[in-house]
Amino acid sequence: MNEKIRLIIDTDPGQDDAAAILMAHGLAKRGLIDFMALTVVAGNVSLHHTATNARIICDWAGETGFPVYAGAGKPLLRPLVTAEEVHGKTGLDGAELHDPQCPLQPVHAVPYLIDTLRKAEEASITLCPIGPLTNIAQAISLAPDIVRGIKNIVLMGGNYFEAGNVTPAAEFNFYVDPHAAQIVLQSGAPITVLPLDVTHKACITTPRMDVLRKQNNTNGKRLANILQSYERFDTQKFGLEGGPLHDPCAIACAVFPELFSGKSCRVDVETQSELTMGACVVDWWGSTGKPANAYWVTDVDADAMFRELADSIRELP
Ligand code: BDR
Ligand code: CA
Repeated sequence: MNEKIRLIIDTDPGQDDAAAILMAHGLAKRGLIDFMALTVVAGNVSLHHTATNARIICDWAGETGFPVYAGAGKPLLRPLVTAEEVHGKTGLDGAELHDPQCPLQPVHAVPYLIDTLRKAEEASITLCPIGPLTNIAQAISLAPDIVRGIKNIVLMGGNYFEAGNVTPAAEFNFYVDPHAAQIVLQSGAPITVLPLDVTHKACITTPRMDVLRKQNNTNGKRLANILQSYERFDTQKFGLEGGPLHDPCAIACAVFPELFSGKSCRVDVETQSELTMGACVVDWWGSTGKPANAYWVTDVDADAMFRELADSIRELP
């Protein structure tokens, strides 16, 4: 039996973020996680949109009082790069949007993270960052002691064996805030990375989309519509069999690690060269002799992961 984990998602919704957040609400309803909060960051779209979208998604899950904290509106050092061409102008193409009832908490995400992790028991909270790592890097830089409260940081970002999806060298989340990614990776916290190497193996194929659409609930159909609109970009650009479920991979790996495999490695992120900005250097063969700082995931049982996603969405309205 999986231990019930205490989970905070840091996110920039984003269509696949929406799938991840809905999955987490469903996992909470299944009694598998204690879903504590959403912290929000600018990334796929501006912070205004990502924060609004996070609240809308909680409304969809029937969680109209869920704690949502807005955080950084731009990366640590670089100008914000967004991805409207993938996720649409609002970040949630494919769904009907409304004025959210779920409120925004009156505290910034960074002090919320610092406070919560400081008060937590040792190694008790799992963070799932599924956007640029700005909030997490800020929290760790301001209060390095909070690493004590972290059980694991299970994050979606980076690439090594697979080409970049925003530049030839880099994955979107690490490209948008490479300095933050490097701070988090060197923080000493236990880290699991879900890079493109594995997320491109977990696609939302047509049969999988049909499973969601045929579920007897609004959120199944809604998510199928969102993912349908999202897959267009990836199937055309990368020749994949469907849109990659990047962000749900992080949630699934936090809760069902037995479905994923990889290797503990030394990982560094490029922050100097414009040509390879945000690219990862993964010491897969231990050439540097430096100790590993992350578990780098390369494989997933995609059918089993999708079943967990569908079972979780089924719990929602
Ligand atoms: C990552 O970038 C974003 O567009 C997705 O939401 C995901 O977090 C994939 O590179
Ligand atoms: Ca994301």
